Amino acid sequence: MFNHTENTNKYLNKVTNGNCKEVLAEFDANTIDLVITSPPYDDLRDYTKEAKWNYKSFQEIAKQLFRVMKPGGVVVWVVGDKVDKGNKSLTSFRQALYFQEIGFNMFDVIIYEKAGSGPPHKNRYFNTYEYMFVLSKGQPKTINLLKDKQNKWANCATYGNVTKREKDGTLTDKGRKIVNEMGVRTNIWKYTNGKGFATKDEIAYQHPAIFPEKLVQDHILSWSNEGDIILDPFGGSGTVAKKAIELKRQWISIEISKEYCEIAEKRIKSVLCTTKLSL
Ligand SMILES: C[S@@+](CC[C@H](N)C(=O)[O-])C[C@H]1O[C@@H](n2cnc3c(N)ncnc32)[C@H](O)[C@@H]1O
Repeated sequence: MFNHTENTNKYLNKVTNGNCKEVLAEFDANTIDLVITSPPYDDLRDYTKEAKWNYKSFQEIAKQLFRVMKPGGVVVWVVGDKVDKGNKSLTSFRQALYFQEIGFNMFDVIIYEKAGSGPPHKNRYFNTYEYMFVLSKGQPKTINLLKDKQNKWANCATYGNVTKREKDGTLTDKGRKIVNEMGVRTNIWKYTNGKGFATKDEIAYQHPAIFPEKLVQDHILSWSNEGDIILDPFGGSGTVAKKAIELKRQWISIEISKEYCEIAEKRIKSVLCTTKLSL
């Protein structure tokens, strides 16, 4: 099947200043391998006057994302909820269910545990997590599970001898299973966030809500290969673009605020200098 890519290619390896709802409408269908993004959370922050963020704009953007993803492409949607007068918005859940309604699989829900939480609240437990919805268009085409969990029983034969039941009902001894040093991690991922921890890149902190670089790196490694196209439609300070360059992927960053685009461009220039690549 011949696939058009020329419209999407116009945005490749660039920061585009615009509303992602409109910019994504220009993309060819089935052209993006991976999205890692974090939208505005309810109305917790006023990013810009230009974009009205509400459930309707979310729905339009979600439909565009489904259209532009390649079959097997993955969207990582990082989101938290506002608490208003003791009531959690659960906008995250509404969004998750809507993604399923329009055709995405909810491949996994990974918890982003934040090592640095805000000040304690007088009558509520510390809020230390956000959701990372891992959505896929069909089954994910790339899965490279990260094996960085130290196994408690490493180098031991913990399960006794492994046996196999033969067709005639007898058991064959297959010997001892030695547990590997490192195993696949769980789906709770912990990162140190906040100023001085999410990145060493001082300029990024001019944006109020940056991703920890390691979080982005872990998703890029899990769901993409070198050369793949990675999109952040709410690009902010350009963390996804920066990590994509370092990990030899192609990237597209869309951001509505001109000021944040400038921050992203500075970060990207600096990483291109250190990696000796060019735009
Ligand atoms: C949670 S922040 C993302 C920060 C980013 N992950 C980073 O590491 O810097 C959300 C961003 O989306 C931008 N934004 C809000 N509505 C938008 C829209 N309709 N189109 C494009 N960007 C938008 C905001 O200006 C803000 O920078």
